[in-house]
Amino acid sequence: MKVLVIGGGGREHAFAWKLAQSPKVQMVYVAPGNGGTARDARLENLPITDIAELRQWAIDNKIGLTLVGPEAPLAAGVVDEFRAHGLRIFGPTKAAAQLESSKAFSKAFMRRHNIPTAEYATFSDPATAHTYVEQMGAPIVVKADGLAAGKGVVVAMTLEEAHVAIDFMLLDNTLGVSHNAGDDGQAVPRVVIEEFLEGEEASFMVLCDGRNVVTLATSQDHKRLQDGDQGPNTGGMGAYSPAPVVTPQVHARAMREIILPTLKGMEKDGIPYTGFLYAGLMIDGQGQVKTLEFNCRMGDPETQPILMRLKTDLLDVLLAATEPGAGEAFAQTELEWDRRIALGVVMAAGGYPLNPRKGAVISGLPKDTEDAVVFHAGTTQVGDDLQVSGGRVLCVTALGDSVKLAQQRAYQTLQGISFEGAQYRTDIGYRAVKA
Ligand code: AMP
Ligand code: GLY
Repeated sequence: MKVLVIGGGGREHAFAWKLAQSPKVQMVYVAPGNGGTARDARLENLPITDIAELRQWAIDNKIGLTLVGPEAPLAAGVVDEFRAHGLRIFGPTKAAAQLESSKAFSKAFMRRHNIPTAEYATFSDPATAHTYVEQMGAPIVVKADGLAAGKGVVVAMTLEEAHVAIDFMLLDNTLGVSHNAGDDGQAVPRVVIEEFLEGEEASFMVLCDGRNVVTLATSQDHKRLQDGDQGPNTGGMGAYSPAPVVTPQVHARAMREIILPTLKGMEKDGIPYTGFLYAGLMIDGQGQVKTLEFNCRMGDPETQPILMRLKTDLLDVLLAATEPGAGEAFAQTELEWDRRIALGVVMAAGGYPLNPRKGAVISGLPKDTEDAVVFHAGTTQVGDDLQVSGGRVLCVTALGDSVKLAQQRAYQTLQGISFEGAQYRTDIGYRAVKA
């Protein structure tokens, strides 16, 4: 079978790497892919990003299954488009992807179906929003209602920061998101303002076929740029799997209180959920679990360590999940995991996250081994050179018998790699090392 992976980041490199290991897979195409997928003989990059063009290409080239990595094509309706032409694709429809693409949609959904999450209110009028934060006090969280690539959330520790965030999101609207039709038919930005939650975060991901769920291994991401969780929020600077904070009790609660009611609620609302579903969890000291956010896709960089531990053939799982009218085989799926810990360290470009500098030449990449793989994200092959072409450049991922050993191996693998301006955290996995 020929398969297509849509996207060009580290997550998509990991998907393609894993799918290429399936004996049933003849070729994996990655659209548009990156420097890492270009170098691998089992993968082929496809320079197409337009959805209708991709769909036509998939028809013409008899693609048996398409897997979508990032949220943007999902929110733009790639799944609807492929399905309308009889193509097999794994991901949520445009309507279902609103769980991620609209904070207002997902918060209202959670309220309607009693899914635990922070208390909130939605605003498009700045004056009312300012009054509301004055009443609620700080810390408080201000979120733009739309896809903003991680830049749409401000955790305001002071009222001053909350006021600035409201004006930034509602008045300046430089994020260019949240275009919902107002009363006069005009596009207006919206914000969701919510209660500040304390605790430890974890990433909880499952696969859904509209009715059934198969859970993936747990993981934890490091969102801040610098060691000790300091500095600005990023897309993620490293991750490891499993996450000890997700104890068996927390796991059971997350399934019972969040994942299963979400699947049922979506079905009840007439928008059955298919694809990966990612619940960002906040776990408090008492083991209570709340939903910070939903993503309608796998996490990046969480996918890289998770897939390094997955022993089951990913193609089989995706075929079961997209089998028309079935569900039985999918519901019975038991994923097999490597018992070791996997840990990935992101190397980012100089200037990331605000102004990543592109063009630096990357040198010293080691050969992949059974227990250490360098997944590419923002890299491009230019002649003989591998160049930096995006904010997050590489995710150096390794397996080890303990978090400490996985950490040591990942950092050893990273030692020889260099490019001008490279930034990385030196403490990925620290919460689990202590645990
Ligand atoms: P989101 O995109 O909604 O997950 O927000 C990005 C990050 O902001 C999360 O990973 C948390 O670290 C933080 N965050 C979001 N919502 C809250 C909240 N209600 N309380 C505390 N931190 C939050
Ligand atoms: N690493 C967080 C995310 O993918 O949203």
